[in-house]
Amino acid sequence: MTQGARHVAIIMDGNGRWAKKRLLPRVAGHKAGVEAVRTIVRAAGDMGLEALTLYAFSSENWKRPEEEVSDLMGLMKRFILSDLDEFAANDVKLKVIGNWRALAPDVVAMIDNALERTSGNKRTTLAVALNYGAQDELVRAASAAAAAGAITAEAIEAHLDTADMPPLDLLIRTSGEVRLSNFLLWQSAYAELYFTDKLWPDFAPADLQAALDQFARRERRYGGL
Ligand code: FPP
Repeated sequence: MTQGARHVAIIMDGNGRWAKKRLLPRVAGHKAGVEAVRTIVRAAGDMGLEALTLYAFSSENWKRPEEEVSDLMGLMKRFILSDLDEFAANDVKLKVIGNWRALAPDVVAMIDNALERTSGNKRTTLAVALNYGAQDELVRAASAAAAAGAITAEAIEAHLDTADMPPLDLLIRTSGEVRLSNFLLWQSAYAELYFTDKLWPDFAPADLQAALDQFARRERRYGGL
């Protein structure tokens, strides 16, 4: 029997197109994207999800124009700072995955503080992927496994950034693109995939509910019959 999803991940795509449709600068799309993040984090808790992982900044996103990179970093900083009270109110524990310790020292310090301040929260874990790339994660996990003695699937899994999270059940990508873009490649091995044409700023709790409903109707076989 299919159980309800515990861990959902989202590739939040389409901010730029959302802004373009409105003749607005791309940063306006990212700002609207942050609003969607707030709404969806709240809804995820209400819908009983234990964990939500969001692809906020990939290791490839550095290739974007300098101004857009700095807009995105600024938005992320403001989100983490200004939503600490909101996290407390909604019992959200923050987690950051990816090579985030390589970011600017002020960002690293701010994240460390936010992780510490939310570490006692229990209802939902919000994992933000920052400077994340799945191939990089796998190289780090395999190296750590080798250093500990053996490269087995279990050892790699134990060293993934998501090691302390429930298994990934459902991976959603918005905006009509149908690819994984180096996100959670190991964790997606048995995850259900859900693609929607909605642009990320337009993705609402009802859309998350529709994805969860579809997940509940799918029968997962893990390679069996
Ligand atoms: C994809 O849209 C979106 C991103 C690269 C960044 C996602 C970031 C946010 C939603 C805001 C910050 C996140 C958090 C967790 C506060 P795109 O720019 O690739 O859109 P396009 O494909 O339409 O150009």
